[in-house]
Amino acid sequence: MPPPHSTPSWLADAVLYQIYPQSFADSDGDGVGDFAGITARLDHLAWLGVNAVWLNPCFASPFRDAGYDVSDYLSVAPRYGTDEDLAALVAAAKERGIRVLLDLVAGHTSDEHPWFRAAADDPSDGRYIWAEGRPPGFVPSPGSRAGSYLPNFFDSQPALNFGYARTDPAEPWRQPVDAPGPLANRAALREIMDHWLRLGLAGFRVDMAHSLVKDDPDLVETGKLWTELRAWLDEAHPEAALLAEWGDPAVSVPAGFHADFFLQFGGPSDGLPLRSLWNNGTGTVDTRWEPRAPYFGADGGGSAGPFVTAWQSVTAVIGDRGFTTLPTANHDFSRLCCGPRTAGQLPAAFAFQMTWPTLPAVYYGDEIGMRYIPGLPDHEGSVLGPEYNRAGSRTPMQWDDSPNAGFSTAPADKLYLPLDPDPGRPTVAAQRADAGSLLHLVRRLIALRKATPELGTSGSVKVLHTGYPLVYVRGDRYLVVVNPRRDAASLDLPRPTLASARPVEGAGVTVDEDGIRADGFAWAVLDLA
Ligand code: NOJ
Repeated sequence: MPPPHSTPSWLADAVLYQIYPQSFADSDGDGVGDFAGITARLDHLAWLGVNAVWLNPCFASPFRDAGYDVSDYLSVAPRYGTDEDLAALVAAAKERGIRVLLDLVAGHTSDEHPWFRAAADDPSDGRYIWAEGRPPGFVPSPGSRAGSYLPNFFDSQPALNFGYARTDPAEPWRQPVDAPGPLANRAALREIMDHWLRLGLAGFRVDMAHSLVKDDPDLVETGKLWTELRAWLDEAHPEAALLAEWGDPAVSVPAGFHADFFLQFGGPSDGLPLRSLWNNGTGTVDTRWEPRAPYFGADGGGSAGPFVTAWQSVTAVIGDRGFTTLPTANHDFSRLCCGPRTAGQLPAAFAFQMTWPTLPAVYYGDEIGMRYIPGLPDHEGSVLGPEYNRAGSRTPMQWDDSPNAGFSTAPADKLYLPLDPDPGRPTVAAQRADAGSLLHLVRRLIALRKATPELGTSGSVKVLHTGYPLVYVRGDRYLVVVNPRRDAASLDLPRPTLASARPVEGAGVTVDEDGIRADGFAWAVLDLA
């Protein structure tokens, strides 16, 4: 099969925005966000300038993992509204030039999915991975079927059977990838995608896309599965985008994804490129992560080198076959504004994100500097370990300074998660009224990126310095200087051409014939033409 090459025409210019539907906007006052709430807030997104929205799973679910435990892929969860409400959201978004992507939970279902219920009573059913006895990692059968099943994440999320790359007669549950169960599951993925794409959805973020074929060295068989699905997609829905939750674009994009995220995990150094930018050891903490100063930290001490190097090597592999995506955060790891990082430090981070050739993905609320809230109780599977609490990144969107921040009219104790308790919490309304706010800055940066192709995914990037300040030239024309630390930083750069540099956006950066000087937390884009 030839490598996939076509990409949806809109994707190169996408500015993604991730909506956690539970927490974005609640129209009916039950304390949980919903489709109609999102629809009513689309003008905010249009004003901000984002043009593609990714919704976390909004399908029928018992919500033991906040919707990543799907019990029916073709029905929406009643708490978010009806099929018609989702259709109205998609139509209203389209009117504003915004595409809507859903989350495809490909690797597992809920243990309440009818497929799993049937499998738990039928020893001939091959849709899940079922063993006699209880091999390590397997969970006892809940039904009349003897033995145990393999989960993919929580025990309540049985792995769909896509087969094993290596079979072993001593372990008969290792079915080949072309056994009937795995083939039925592949066909089901196509049917689910087809269903939603026909209704006008623009694509999917694919949950745990790397996890499908088990015991798969170098993920070769998992890659082939996605190559096959992509070939179908290219024929059936060429304008639909597949974004992987894989964390290793050098593998996932050649396999068939249009884009993959730099994530807190994944890739040759297990998430280090992204963590080396943002992660300051607070918020969601995985004890396996070696503590290190992030590049975007007020104390300095970090380096943009690991990210830049990873980006360069990924780009050398994927070329123009697809994109890498740089998220500000997501529902699984700390927001940008976390621990010692204050809102005043965020402009430099957004300036970098919006002028780097990755696809930017803004996590809802990061555009106003919402804080990660520590210490929240477990809710719908948010706590993964003693120090890994995802709830702090999932709190209600702060629209205004009304009692529930405009998120909901429900009593405060009925909200999906508590609000940031700080009475001075940032809000959209206050920042809309203040042209000097972070929100306005993010909007200007998005507009600048859209108006300046050199700053987007297609413009070249030449990195001049990965310490403090970070300095790079986009499209042989725009000099970008970012200094995310408290102290000023300078770079000797004896280039006469820099003397003519004309500021486009930003402040606190001086350029002359001897080099560049940036104040603390300053950044600028300069035109060298
Ligand atoms: C990754 C999702 O982003 C996360 O929220 C979820 O818990 C796991 N996959 C399991 O589906």
